[in-house]
Amino acid sequence: MSYDKSAVAQAFDSAASTYACHSQLQTRVARHLLLGANLTGRVLDLGCGPGTQIDSALKTQGQWIGLDLSHAMLQQARPNKAYVVQGDAESLPLQSQSLDALVSSMALQWCDVERSCSELGRVVSSGGRLYLAVVVQGSLSELQSSDCQSGFSVNRFAPAKAWLSQLTQAGFEVNLESRAETAHFDSVKTLLNSLRGVGANHSQQRSPGLRGKTWWREVQAHLEAQRCEHGLPLTYQIAYFRGLKL
Ligand SMILES: C[S@@+](CC[C@H](N)C(=O)[O-])C[C@H]1O[C@@H](n2cnc3c(N)ncnc32)[C@H](O)[C@@H]1O
Repeated sequence: MSYDKSAVAQAFDSAASTYACHSQLQTRVARHLLLGANLTGRVLDLGCGPGTQIDSALKTQGQWIGLDLSHAMLQQARPNKAYVVQGDAESLPLQSQSLDALVSSMALQWCDVERSCSELGRVVSSGGRLYLAVVVQGSLSELQSSDCQSGFSVNRFAPAKAWLSQLTQAGFEVNLESRAETAHFDSVKTLLNSLRGVGANHSQQRSPGLRGKTWWREVQAHLEAQRCEHGLPLTYQIAYFRGLKL
């Protein structure tokens, strides 16, 4: 699948200044991904965003490089990383076998699976570690319904097994852990703002131009019907891959 990289970068450029206020779920995912991780040497945080998710205890263990498509995200990340580089995960501006570890949390779902896994396999050296959390098929199902799905343009995320197969082909031996991560919101507005706030509103599908009051009422009714004791749920299906390069 091919993505419009300048549109993805633009969505994240505009989210950069508000990202930290809306990224509680992303923080949870990154912490889970790196629980007990032992990261030394040259470590790449791929799709690092503002670079705030990596625990400071972990950061002291290695020489951290942050790489992201979005220039505005990298400006936020600069104080949090030893080096920052602008680039695309599908064509990494790094030498082959140059990394001891690669970490990437909730960033690669906007990439072609085969091209990005092949790049991961090229830049990580033999024996190097991989920690990857990626949003997969079945995510944001609350936004879709037969009644009002035309109003939302939700990404078609690749299935976990496609990532597993391409990582294996790229020379990694990995374990897959699948987990659902749900965030809860007070109102429909805060739920939709959170999508915008983390740049997740970009989609490879075209969104319909005009959304009238009827559409808005339908969307509200649809989301409100799913309200639980914690609020309005929004669920991401996350595939966690941990392993090493053979
Ligand atoms: C949801 S944020 C996650 C940021 C950070 N890893 C975290 O856990 O908070 C996704 C990030 O991936 C970056 N990104 C998206 N596609 C990318 C690509 N092809 N190459 C590099 N970075 C990319 C975006 O610019 C954005 O900063």
